[in-house]
Amino acid sequence: MQKIIVAIDGHAATGKSTQSKRLADTLGYTYIDTGAMYRAVTYFALKQDPEGSIDPQRLLASLDQIKIQFRYTSEGQQTFLNGKNISKAIRQVEVTGHVSQVAKLPEVRAFLVNQQQTMGENKGIVMDGRDIGTVVFPEAECKFFLTARSEIRAKRRHLEQLEQGNEQTLESVHENLKERDHLDSNRSTSPMIKAEDAIEIDVSDASIDEVYELLWSHISKKVAL
Ligand code: DC
Repeated sequence: MQKIIVAIDGHAATGKSTQSKRLADTLGYTYIDTGAMYRAVTYFALKQDPEGSIDPQRLLASLDQIKIQFRYTSEGQQTFLNGKNISKAIRQVEVTGHVSQVAKLPEVRAFLVNQQQTMGENKGIVMDGRDIGTVVFPEAECKFFLTARSEIRAKRRHLEQLEQGNEQTLESVHENLKERDHLDSNRSTSPMIKAEDAIEIDVSDASIDEVYELLWSHISKKVAL
């Protein structure tokens, strides 16, 4: 069967990673979570500073010391930074609160986009993020853009955070999502926008299975070619 690239972009907490993982499993493709890569760089930057703030100049001077890998363990796909499993750490509030600040740096984007393009050079990937259909793989065969009402996304993310033992109020999760969407949509380098040829799906009132079936109905036509 002909291998393709599936690009899933969209707002934070719309279920992009849940859908992407499932689609990758069905297709026998590799799943690549590009948000985890921006989070890994943010984690690195926070560790560089004893005060735990971001120094962009210092970060940019040490990008060559950052090695990000995805590896499979008994807990599924995990993110490693310089050999250390940071999958849980990058979901903490500290990283989430600083990631948009790091993701707007053009040098960081160029550094990660280059790696993402290498990961997909033989196709057979499902990649989720914000700029996959516009910048990383504008030629991707299947492009989607997921959206949902912010209250719904906040509830979903809040629940996930509680399950992972991260105590936060629903209001603070909601505020963070809105702020990140605003920063991610308004940065000057590759802002989050729907690619012209992406299929937009509002997942507000749909179940995970319903969204999956919709995505699959489009993808299955392309892989059957
Ligand atoms: O998908 P996520 O919420 O884990 O992504 C974390 C942040 O990384 C998000 O706020 C924006 C940024 N990001 C990006 O700028 N470009 C991508 N391709 C993926 C994520």
